[in-house]
Amino acid sequence: MIHFSNDLQAFRAWLEGQSFSQICVLTDENTAVHCYPLLAEALAGFLPLHFSIPSGEQHKTLPTCETIWAYWLAQYLDRKALIINLGGGVVGDMGGFCAATYKRGIQFVQMPTTLLAQVDASVGGKLGIDFQGYKNVIGSFQEPIAVWINTDFLKTLPARELRAGMGEVLKYSFISPSFEVDWTNLACIVRESVAVKKAIVETDYQEQGLRKILNFGHTIGHALETYFLLNKTETLLHGEAVAEGMLAEAYLSMRYAGLGQASFEVISERIRAYFPETLSLTESEIQAIAHLACQDKKNIAQEIRCVLLEEVGKAVFDVPITVQDIMDALIFTVGNRD
Ligand SMILES: NC(=O)c1ccc[n+]([C@@H]2O[C@H](COP(=O)([O-])OP(=O)(O)OC[C@H]3O[C@@H](n4cnc5c(N)ncnc54)[C@H](O)[C@@H]3O)[C@@H](O)[C@H]2O)c1
Repeated sequence: MIHFSNDLQAFRAWLEGQSFSQICVLTDENTAVHCYPLLAEALAGFLPLHFSIPSGEQHKTLPTCETIWAYWLAQYLDRKALIINLGGGVVGDMGGFCAATYKRGIQFVQMPTTLLAQVDASVGGKLGIDFQGYKNVIGSFQEPIAVWINTDFLKTLPARELRAGMGEVLKYSFISPSFEVDWTNLACIVRESVAVKKAIVETDYQEQGLRKILNFGHTIGHALETYFLLNKTETLLHGEAVAEGMLAEAYLSMRYAGLGQASFEVISERIRAYFPETLSLTESEIQAIAHLACQDKKNIAQEIRCVLLEEVGKAVFDVPITVQDIMDALIFTVGNRD
């Protein structure tokens, strides 16, 4: 059940109607400071446990999971306990994964605090962690008992993180034929994005078909994100990588899915309006990034399968592309800085 409410007392009332043996709030170092005090105040008298992890994608790993599981064990959390994942997509994906596997599965609530997590990561039951640098390759599907979306949490989100969330919002505007929002109204953007994602997930929960279109921009986006995580000192946020990935995959859509030049220009302008700066990559970096896409979860029989656009609002999935295609697309969209 997805609740849209900026009233934490409503969450408290919901919690009072449940019967959990213990409650543990999971935060990262930033949501511990900016979001946890608001939740703790609303839950006064409930005495939840609180465990915090370092922030950032580089900590979405098995060693961090071990610290979470060790804490829960030390606190004697049993199978009737509840975990509240209070944070962005990293806390939600990893906290959910830890909950889904601890003692064969305990209940958890997603309480997303970034735009990206509110419009995307908290909805649809995908949980997981990165392994050997590869994005989300260890994970599971498990629905939370509830998702509580409170846009007040976004007030403390750094501007760059807010913008990164727009990457996934733009994705909905490219894959959905009916995405209409007031672009100045965050609450409206969040609700419409969740509506699109929920409708797609409900038709194909296990991602056997249509749900794959939610990965538009992610074949190349994840490869870029992985490359930056493993090799670069500057950070590339998930939403930023997806934005660059969508541009490159829109280019390939002209090659393989019949996307018209004019539609490509529309997509490019929409992306560059939010993400004007282009990446600086050498040819050998572009080559390495293209090869990373060979580990994408959507691939079949070691063939890279990509989501492309026939037109804005009409995505197709499982389109085979090659490493050379990805290199061509990146050279076209970000250029070769040699
Ligand atoms: N499960 C899914 O379906 C799905 C979908 C999309 C993305 N994801 C995953 O989500 C992750 C990205 O999520 P993200 O962009 O939320 O990153 P994130 O969780 O790293 O959060 C971004 C940063 O913002 C900080 N932060 C969070 N909330 C804050 C607040 N209210 N005020 C101040 N600071 C705050 C965090 O500490 C962190 O530094 C990636 O790992 C990606 O793979 C999952």
